[in-house]
Amino acid sequence: MKARIISTGYFLPERILTNKDLEKMVDTTDEWITKRTGITERRIASEEEASSDMGTRASQMAIENAGIKANEIDAVICSTITPDHFFPSTACLIQHNLRIKDAYAFDLSAACSGFLFALNTAESMLLSGKADTVLVVAPEKLSSITDWKDRSTCVLFGDGAGAAILKKDESGNGIQSTYLKSDGAFGDLLMVPAGGSRMPASPETIEKRQHYLKMKGNEIFKVAVKSMIKAAKHVIKDAAFKPEDIKALIPHQANMRIINAIEKRLSLKDEQIFVNLDKTGNTSAASIAISLGELESSGGLKEGDKVVLVSFGGGLTWAGIALTW
Ligand SMILES: CC(C)(COP(=O)(O)OP(=O)(O)OC[C@H]1O[C@@H](n2cnc3c(N)ncnc32)[C@H](O)[C@@H]1OP(=O)(O)O)[C@@H](O)C(=O)NCCC(=O)NCCS
Repeated sequence: MKARIISTGYFLPERILTNKDLEKMVDTTDEWITKRTGITERRIASEEEASSDMGTRASQMAIENAGIKANEIDAVICSTITPDHFFPSTACLIQHNLRIKDAYAFDLSAACSGFLFALNTAESMLLSGKADTVLVVAPEKLSSITDWKDRSTCVLFGDGAGAAILKKDESGNGIQSTYLKSDGAFGDLLMVPAGGSRMPASPETIEKRQHYLKMKGNEIFKVAVKSMIKAAKHVIKDAAFKPEDIKALIPHQANMRIINAIEKRLSLKDEQIFVNLDKTGNTSAASIAISLGELESSGGLKEGDKVVLVSFGGGLTWAGIALTW
């Protein structure tokens, strides 16, 4: 018995912010951003669009693709670092938007690894009999915590949402192997310092721009490459996948140089690596969820295909999941 993703959905807001647009906002160039990150444009949500709105749209697509009624879902797990509010949870807001009545919903926080951590939780809930149909949704409005005056971070991030519906499956297809890790010792490499109980919002924290995401980019870079390779290798071996048989490895879409390093170290081919960060930027927890949604929608996944998901994010957290479609 396996937990299997039976459908996916995704949503990207309409507004496109290009590198050329960013040239007018901060001291940067299209050339620097493209060369150092691989990103050429990203989507930015409108003022009225919150994470729950984008998450609802992605979930509606996943529900439609699954051919089920929303009310068949008995658990909603939402992974986001940009919730609408501290509470109620964004999962509860999405549950209400979808008119799911007889269910439980909660948020899970693991930054850019959130979608994989949530898939792992969904798998446990399904295999232990605590739920029959689980919606995992990962919406992010990173533009709401981006410091648009900080060129070292504002060029990297974008908004969007992805969703997946999971059920138990007896065919043998589904999640084959999971690997989750975290190390809080590196928490300060990527964080939003103010607005929580450590440093509640005050005129001073606003003045110092401490409600925005702060990142030590090149320190993160090294840990990200090492950890993602380790996670990918672990699940590929554990699931007994041959590297050449992998249909798609979907890495967290943060930086093309990180993705290239993973491809090289795992001796994979370009066509085995899914990339959309040129058009989306880094969308944190939504990144792999959107990628999976795009890949499925474009007809890129057939039953039995071997897929590897690998993430890295704030916390620090990192994870790998190997599955057969
Ligand atoms: C952020 C990142 C793209 C920066 O690239 P980098 O090659 O490490 O660049 P550095 O931070 O060393 O900066 C190099 C120079 O470019 C400058 N720079 C930074 N951002 C710039 C920008 N947008 N435009 C132009 N110059 C920029 C820096 O000020 C620095 O200038 P200096 O040498 O005069 O001091 C890269 O470190 C990265 O992607 N890290 C991982 C981030 C990540 O994945 N985070 C999410 C994890 S979930």
